[in-house]
Amino acid sequence: MQTPWIIGNWKMNGRIDRNIALINAFKTFRLPEKVHIGIASSYPYIHQLYTELQETSIWVGAEDCSQFYDDGAYTGEVSANMLADCGAKFVIIGHSERRTYFSENNDLLKIKLQNALSAGLLPIFCVGETLQERESGQEEKVIASQLAILRDFADASMIVAYEPVWAIGTGKVAEPEQIQAMHQFMNEEILSITGKRDKIPLLYGGSVNADNASIILKTSCVDGALVGGASLKADVFMRIITAATE
Ligand code: PGA
Repeated sequence: MQTPWIIGNWKMNGRIDRNIALINAFKTFRLPEKVHIGIASSYPYIHQLYTELQETSIWVGAEDCSQFYDDGAYTGEVSANMLADCGAKFVIIGHSERRTYFSENNDLLKIKLQNALSAGLLPIFCVGETLQERESGQEEKVIASQLAILRDFADASMIVAYEPVWAIGTGKVAEPEQIQAMHQFMNEEILSITGKRDKIPLLYGGSVNADNASIILKTSCVDGALVGGASLKADVFMRIITAATE
């Protein structure tokens, strides 16, 4: 079995003092060695987290990166190279909130994936269908079209996260059977798109919490979890990490 991944996604939350309190609470726990742990934060706090977490095995990451790679006149943008410079090891690309609120599409995400890889960051590429798409039986078609951009990244190291849009921040979790069926489909799809021999870790995300983590993480074809709201509470996030060791 691969070492599982538990990645927290703090989204647009955090303040310098609150982050320190959360990290200090987190540092009181003994972290298991056999789980890859990461926290993605907003840009201003990446270097703070990097500094605070240096003594731990926890990776710091970003929630997005710019479509522009080289430094230049792009006011307000943050490049993948800047993220790496500030201590980020990974970056979430294509989260459904970015696809929804910022109209990020395959063409743009392809560039962002390339930028992340060129800067030496591990991309966590997110895919997911809306409720309407699932209810009309379109979920596999939608996921396949989102995964299609991986054709250009056959040999790249990355992680893919399946996050059904209807399960994000709603408290509504996909059933283990739904997760397993989709992850199985995604494994086959990725293999046929990339011909890749090494398996790409597949994470599930969407209302993962301390009570459902164990069953989700034991579901076949699930290599870990991308955790939003529940990663903002040290004890809850720790229980999710512990569930990954079972
Ligand atoms: P949630 O978010 O756990 O709060 O549903 C997950 C995500 O958006 O990555």
